[in-house]
Amino acid sequence: MDAALEDEIRTQLAANRDRTGPPQGAVEVPPIPSGRYCDQEFAALERDRVWRRSWLYAGHLSQLPEQGSYLTTDRSGSPIVVVRGEDDVVRAFYNSCRHRAAPVVRDECGTARRLTCQYHSWSYGLSGELRAVPDSRNFVDLDESELGLVPVRCEVWEGFVFVNEDPAAVPLETYLGPLTEQMREVDGTRLRWIARQHHHVAANWKVVVDAFSEVYHIRTVHPDNAALLYDDSTVTVAMLPNGHSRLSVAVRPELLGVMDPSPAADNPSVGALWRETSTSFGWFPNVVASLDTGAFPLLCIWPVDTGHADLVLEWFAPDWGDGEMPEEHAVRVTLFETVMAQDTANLGAIQRSVESPGARPFRIGWHERLVHHFHRAVDLAIGPEDVPDGLAVSDTLDRFVDPA
Ligand code: FES
Ligand SMILES: [Fe+2]
Repeated sequence: MDAALEDEIRTQLAANRDRTGPPQGAVEVPPIPSGRYCDQEFAALERDRVWRRSWLYAGHLSQLPEQGSYLTTDRSGSPIVVVRGEDDVVRAFYNSCRHRAAPVVRDECGTARRLTCQYHSWSYGLSGELRAVPDSRNFVDLDESELGLVPVRCEVWEGFVFVNEDPAAVPLETYLGPLTEQMREVDGTRLRWIARQHHHVAANWKVVVDAFSEVYHIRTVHPDNAALLYDDSTVTVAMLPNGHSRLSVAVRPELLGVMDPSPAADNPSVGALWRETSTSFGWFPNVVASLDTGAFPLLCIWPVDTGHADLVLEWFAPDWGDGEMPEEHAVRVTLFETVMAQDTANLGAIQRSVESPGARPFRIGWHERLVHHFHRAVDLAIGPEDVPDGLAVSDTLDRFVDPA
């Protein structure tokens, strides 16, 4: 992160801690209609215009270590296979055979020399080209060159692999905008994926994203862990273009250094600010990247239906070279379970109240404005004019979004 930006964040952390009222320039955050969390028409628009048109995190290059390594995802709404080719380029395809649309890969991940459909054994090369058709004598005028797997946009930033079903989407780095510079010190190409934790949450996916967009709740929901470590009064946020965000909260001065990893587990490219704070980045629509030195998770929030979501934590650690993974990474992964258990128990009780006729538009504070920023980006992805009546959020905070 740029030194001037680090200094500015430090100044704001201190100013936020010391202020006794809203900061100068703050405005009332417009209300968030509760119907956004349960309306079926709204959810259908999200499926078509958010999930099928956004850059979605799909995996990391360390999960595709060799030519022929593949992984699958269907989180955009369609089954997709991501595969490393013989030229080491990572590509994505719809996981649909050109014969009669069966999946060409059925495992969650693996390694293959060819992608061979298990229905009638049509077989594809790692670049998607059709290579073999059993009994091709039965097909009249078969043009195999026209029958490759259908490609899906796939781009990689610093080892993180994203897919996008929208052929017209802007390039990934354009989409990420200032995040690429602000997160560069994580040195993503030298990370290793180490673990996944999966939580089912009985709440709309946006209830879950909202919870990871603020630290107002940590004293009440995490009194015995996060609230001991972080001073939530310092919280300093940035609304970034395309719905992305940054949130920093200072480690309590008396606890500075207690969470630092040993030199063997440390990420040397991470600067001072990330060590003095918890700094996380929101990747619209659904990832909160809780970047840190040592091991850290990407919190990925996926809708299941309007009242349920999957919270999947993808854990990374700096490459430790040969030998066993440093034990402290596993310890950190385990410790985090307690925090997530508190969040999921809390959120699972919220959905029914949100759906109640007694629910009113949410009245949120200036320190929670990333929640509004996220909802506004959902509306912009849908097209504000198409948001069902009474469910849109206001555009009045648009002027607080950082320049691209
Ligand atoms: S559907 Fe794939 S070979 Fe028939
Ligand atoms: Fe929490």
